[in-house]
Amino acid sequence: MSNLAVLGLQWGDEGKGKLIDLAAEHYDVVVRCQGGNNAGHTVQVADRVYKLSLIPSGVLRPGKIGVVGNGVVINPEALLSEIDTLRSLGVDVESNLLVSNRAHVVFPYHPMLERSSEESPGKRRIGTTSRGIGPCYEDKVARRGIRVAELLSPTHFPDRFRAMAAEKSAVAEALGVHEPWDVEAALARYQGLAERMRPFVTETGKYLNQAIQEGKRLLFEGAQATMLDIDFGTYPYLTSSNATAGGLCTGSGVSPRFLHHIVGVAKAYATRVGEGPFLTEAHGPAGDDLREAGAEYGTVTGRPRRCGWFDIPLLRYAHAINHLSSLFITKLDVLDHLDTVPVCTGYRYKGATLDWMPAIAEEYAEVEPVYEELPGWSGPTAGITDFEQLPGAAKDYIAFLEDRLEIEIGGVSTGPKREETIIREGSILERVTVASDAACA
Ligand code: GDP
Ligand code: IMO
Ligand code: MG
Repeated sequence: MSNLAVLGLQWGDEGKGKLIDLAAEHYDVVVRCQGGNNAGHTVQVADRVYKLSLIPSGVLRPGKIGVVGNGVVINPEALLSEIDTLRSLGVDVESNLLVSNRAHVVFPYHPMLERSSEESPGKRRIGTTSRGIGPCYEDKVARRGIRVAELLSPTHFPDRFRAMAAEKSAVAEALGVHEPWDVEAALARYQGLAERMRPFVTETGKYLNQAIQEGKRLLFEGAQATMLDIDFGTYPYLTSSNATAGGLCTGSGVSPRFLHHIVGVAKAYATRVGEGPFLTEAHGPAGDDLREAGAEYGTVTGRPRRCGWFDIPLLRYAHAINHLSSLFITKLDVLDHLDTVPVCTGYRYKGATLDWMPAIAEEYAEVEPVYEELPGWSGPTAGITDFEQLPGAAKDYIAFLEDRLEIEIGGVSTGPKREETIIREGSILERVTVASDAACA
């Protein structure tokens, strides 16, 4: 049976959660592979708004198994509080959530050290979500992190935790951080959290490969996006995991041979939270207007998102890295009130045309975006579910993007709710998201 991955292509918050929720109906298992509770995926079902962070959005559909894979970094308190919240909203996560024993654990010293790094005058500020995600991945790569399996081990955990706490306290002191904490009290607290996590923990890589053998269909839920990917994003202004296609495999233990379709999600414009270059950023009233129309405030931190225009070279780059089967464009309705819509159609750098991102953020920031101004549309697109019912200029806008990107735009989102969605007839997106007998690879 064919499996599907959904990935963000810009700087996150494209509306991945919405598409995952829609597609999950036809999949058995929904898997998160990277990131942590820096992700915030909003799903609106009828009048209820769900905000998911560590738990895959697919669990909102009864009977679906949610997997938090080995590539995710887990803050146990955040995970358990999300479980409690979902339970209070009537979502049964008790019997259908699995958590990897190989995932790394975020401890209080991670956000503490991150704060110090972000506030240090000599360092480049990233504008992180302050969840300790980067420092936790640092420990993972440095081979000193503590994984869920160790957290659950009464024989290994106390010594490992005490040793790490001593090491981190020494680092904090050297950095001039004075946030005293009671290590023994923290140890006891984490042992308590471990017991609450234990029923969910398993070898998720083994589970997923068995599920594939049994003919179950897997839906991979990307977090963050291509331009926040640790290798291909705007380094160092990005997150600490691989948010592109490759991260799905290393973060789950599933071979690339089982990734059959990859659908990318992009807004009809662009947003970014945090620092770093954003070539098509609209400053002043135009940016403020997009922010208000699109309610562009971070799901995790509530920070106002920087807003700007659709960037075709950036999307072509993301397509090259991820090799998409289809593209889903969200928030078209946010542009409804505009007389004209600027679109970046090319990059100029030192007099030449660029077709790839410069590797140095400061050089990327100097690239000059070339714009074309497209006509706005006369009537609203909000809530429209049939492509043919869109105003002519809105159809032309989508056709223009499709033509320049050379990717199928298989669907368009016209509002936050599940049903405010256009899936185009005959598209690959239709086959993999709404047709229950989706294409086999
Ligand atoms: P994710 O991180 O990619 O899952 O995206 P977020 O949930 O962080 O941000 C997307 C926001 O846009 C959420 O508040 C969604 O409810 C909302 N949204 C998604 N699609 C649409 C759409 O087509 N129109 C409008 N107006 N809002 C949308
Ligand atoms: P979803 O999955 C938008 C951004 C932060 C910051 C940078 C590094 O909801 O699309 P981190 O805390 O990860 O070290 O922060 O990455 N960032 C996101 N921006 N959506 C996200 O996730 C993000 N996750 C991280 O704002 O600029
Ligand atoms: Mg988000």
